[in-house]
Amino acid sequence: MEAGNNLLLGVTGGIAAYKSVELARLFRKAGLNVRVVMTDAATRFVTPMTFQAITGEAVRVDLFDPMHEAAMGHIELARWADHFLIAPASADFLARMANGLADDLLSTLCLVSTAPVSVAPAMNVNMWKHAATRKNIELLADRGVRILGPAVGEQACGDSGPGRMPEAAEIVSALMYSSAEGVFGGKKVMLTAGPTREAVDPVRFISNRSSGRMGFALAEAFAREGAEVVLVSGPVSLDTPPGVERIDVVSAQQMHDAVFDNLSGVDLFVGCAAVADYRPEHPSGQKIKKNANRMELSLVRNPDILAEVAALDNGPFTFGFAAETGALEENAKAKLVGKGLHMIAANLVGEGLGFDVEENALQVLWPGGETKLPMQDKKSLARALVGIVAQQYSNHLHQQGGSV
Ligand code: C5P
Repeated sequence: MEAGNNLLLGVTGGIAAYKSVELARLFRKAGLNVRVVMTDAATRFVTPMTFQAITGEAVRVDLFDPMHEAAMGHIELARWADHFLIAPASADFLARMANGLADDLLSTLCLVSTAPVSVAPAMNVNMWKHAATRKNIELLADRGVRILGPAVGEQACGDSGPGRMPEAAEIVSALMYSSAEGVFGGKKVMLTAGPTREAVDPVRFISNRSSGRMGFALAEAFAREGAEVVLVSGPVSLDTPPGVERIDVVSAQQMHDAVFDNLSGVDLFVGCAAVADYRPEHPSGQKIKKNANRMELSLVRNPDILAEVAALDNGPFTFGFAAETGALEENAKAKLVGKGLHMIAANLVGEGLGFDVEENALQVLWPGGETKLPMQDKKSLARALVGIVAQQYSNHLHQQGGSV
């Protein structure tokens, strides 16, 4: 969005509605024309008069309001909008939106409008984590709705976790100061994902429990933010996310070669694959027979793909992962520094943790800072991670004198 655009701001019923007053003010200050539509529940938290005073425009609540409909009908109002933002978006409103209901003015506008839609969910942490909300969010994201947040932290109800509406300034910068196609519009992102398989003989291999879910979710989240995405994947049973170019490989050496053959023009490199550190030195051309009581396998080191990319002169921004069974922060910091990365996400792995499961929790570190992302499904984790990468990448470019 840019100054002069028309923004339709939908406000639904939640305590975070008070933050939307500041949001409307900041959008006005940034030169946007803002019209506010509130649900009935939203008016219990903030009065329409407050938004009217801030935006200089009459606020609409009722679908069947003859006076407003005569001035600008709801179809015209939907057409007027260049962008549609619903903040806060309550669990109930997201459910109604996901199901295509049109039982009040705001939900009707959601069906009529063809403008890009963003939502800033805000609700209690358990409501956010509920399977029904998860499903609704995925449905909306699949339909191209941009999900902003939620932020993690203390909630008005006393609970703590994901569910807070992001601060007004963060929402404004996410929508105003990124290119029209998303935060990573015009950028090329390469990711590695999944395990690698190191052949012992034609039928046996050494591998690990990585499912590839985190890397695939990240590839999807980057593509949704407008990036051109190349995903170099080990053997996994996952569908390629929409808009993502996929290169399938089997071994670490093949992954290494695929990465370096396609690295030209890559702005960000994300090493999410669980690359085997060692491979059998002399894989047998024939199936090995069980003739002896003991067998020894000699292994040699595989190349460290991420470290090699990070060591390139004028190479891409590098973001790696550290899967650890203990001393999480210490090991992650050692890898951040040792491999010369810009950012690392660390998680604990082991029985039911990290690998081959739907949910994960991450500690994200960069030189001079860190943040924690609590246990959540890998798709919402991926969206949160892409937001953090955007901030760190933008700092990195500013240090180099460019912009995201
Ligand atoms: O195995 P390690 O803990 O060092 O992995 C940390 C990071 O390095 C991960 O992001 C992984 O994808 C990457 N890596 C790699 N090539 C290897 C080993 C690890 O790219 N051979």
